[in-house]
Amino acid sequence: MYTETTGARRPHAPGATRTDATGKASFDHIYTEPDPRAYFTTLRALDYQIPQAAKPHFAALLQQYREVSGVASPTVLDIGCSYGINAALLRCDVTMEQLYERYCDRDFYTHDSLLARDRAFVRAHDHSGGARYLGLDASDSALSYAVDAGFIDAAIHADLEAGDPTEPQRAQLAEADLVISTGCIGYVTERTIARIVQAHGGRRPWMAHFVLRMFPFDPIADTLAAAGYDTVRHEGVFKQRRFAGPDEQAQVLDALHGAAVDPSGLESEGWLYAQLYLSRPHHPERGPQ
Ligand SMILES: C[S@@+](CC[C@H](N)C(=O)[O-])C[C@H]1O[C@@H](n2cnc3c(N)ncnc32)[C@H](O)[C@@H]1O
Repeated sequence: MYTETTGARRPHAPGATRTDATGKASFDHIYTEPDPRAYFTTLRALDYQIPQAAKPHFAALLQQYREVSGVASPTVLDIGCSYGINAALLRCDVTMEQLYERYCDRDFYTHDSLLARDRAFVRAHDHSGGARYLGLDASDSALSYAVDAGFIDAAIHADLEAGDPTEPQRAQLAEADLVISTGCIGYVTERTIARIVQAHGGRRPWMAHFVLRMFPFDPIADTLAAAGYDTVRHEGVFKQRRFAGPDEQAQVLDALHGAAVDPSGLESEGWLYAQLYLSRPHHPERGPQ
């Protein structure tokens, strides 16, 4: 246990004591489990909530894309989709709180029965309205669960920080009309974004990324500008999660200081905050280009 700046007492997230090179707590171990129970159990303790905050913005962008492009059934690529979290929220119209209820304290299910329960749930609650969801992630096991459960329609198992997509992966990436992400920029950089844009040839998918304030978006915005995009930051900030402990908070405050970002009233109070960046081709009104 630790006491935050605000004085609220929260349990430590299980196992989240190490920090990675960016100063954030490392949760790598929960991204590679065969199902999402460890993911939701660990992140619930930190009030992880950015997918919930992102949901209405992604839904609005999807609707706007349909209207502008005339494409009734757009394909959405979620970078760092993990177990298909954003797709589950959008496709099944559930909340993060409902997903926490669904997966926490569910040790009595076998892996297969948990999966069967999710498959049935998706069949009964598919509000996709024809939208298709592709998930890109470096975790094979998380992607497998997301596809098998039906949260996403197809998976791209790749680390585009490390290398180019294979030709079949490039063809899959090129299907995307919209590219979204939560909690992933930082793990992925302008290298991944550039490879996704290159996969499309001359076409440019719209993009919406929720990015922690400690990670400057300029390198990605510059990469996208060179490819014919305009980027705007949506007003406001969005709570991502509580700090895992005082060490993580101190390291993130250092990183913010280094990036000349003032944490007063935000990260100084015990929460990580994200911003929303919207990137669209110079003339989005002309539809897919
Ligand atoms: C914090 S989780 C975010 C998951 C989900 N978007 C959410 O908000 O709940 C970060 C995800 O990024 C993935 N990831 C890390 N490095 C990656 C890379 N180089 N390429 C693709 N995915 C990566 C991890 O496997 C993990 O699923």
